[in-house]
Amino acid sequence: MRVNIYSESLPFIQKFRGKTIVVKYGGAAMKSESLQSSVITDLVLLSCVGLRIVLVHGGGPEINHWLTRLGIQPNFLNGLRVTDASTMEVVSMVLVGKLNKHLVSLSSTRPAPPPVRGRHRRGRPFRSPPSHREQPHPGDCVGGGGRGGAVVQHQRGHGGGGVGGGTGRGEKLILLTDVAGILEDKDDPGSLVKEIDIKGVKRMIEGGKIGGGMIPKVNCCVRSIAQGVRTASIIDGRVPHSLLLEILTDQGAGTMIIG
Ligand code: ADP
Ligand code: ARG
Repeated sequence: MRVNIYSESLPFIQKFRGKTIVVKYGGAAMKSESLQSSVITDLVLLSCVGLRIVLVHGGGPEINHWLTRLGIQPNFLNGLRVTDASTMEVVSMVLVGKLNKHLVSLSSTRPAPPPVRGRHRRGRPFRSPPSHREQPHPGDCVGGGGRGGAVVQHQRGHGGGGVGGGTGRGEKLILLTDVAGILEDKDDPGSLVKEIDIKGVKRMIEGGKIGGGMIPKVNCCVRSIAQGVRTASIIDGRVPHSLLLEILTDQGAGTMIIG
């Protein structure tokens, strides 16, 4: 059984080697420390077999926690954070100063080749290969795990489904969320739609079958595909190793949206 899974993964490793896979990570899937660590382990594995991983992470609950502690009321409009100047200061502090560093540190505490001597006392310096150093936004924390490296960026200021314009260069976009994927009936967890095209999702939105927090996610996928991303998947971030299942097996783990 396990051996089958290894050999099933080979064509996907060959197909996606050297390709950019953008993973958006936030919300519920980011809450638990053990899930965080399993997501990062998967990303390190994928990066080791040659995929170019860009991790775009959020941090809404942690940002709200610090805003409240500093006496600033978190403010949302249609599910999107309203980011005034003082909120922006806190958002930067939490994302750059805390969460990004934490995720990067998880990636460098994985079993890895011997550490590079000097400069860094703990873990390995998080550096991306030169080919990955493409126009990060000022303040984005860009890093990579040596061989194959990952780029870690944070979402600033907004809590919605957008991952910015940078996904146009990617092969694949993957959004981690707290449901199995797009459900035919949102109250029936067994009604997972495994694959759907853009027309199909538009029909589902018009028919009122996709609602709430799923709408910005699906729109983000549709926009990315319009910009050249080949496929966009919405998968369950609560299921350990759902990333590996989605990328490296035939069946995948969640919903794959195609053009
Ligand atoms: P996250 O916290 O991961 O950013 P959200 O809570 O914003 O995720 O969005 C996912 C939510 O969208 C689900 O928990 C579900 O309640 C809602 N939803 C609405 N329609 C659907 C659908 N057709 N399939 C799946 N989820 C849906
Ligand atoms: N692993 C393959 C890929 O990433 C297939 C994924 C299929 N996923 C799905 N949800 N139907 O291209």
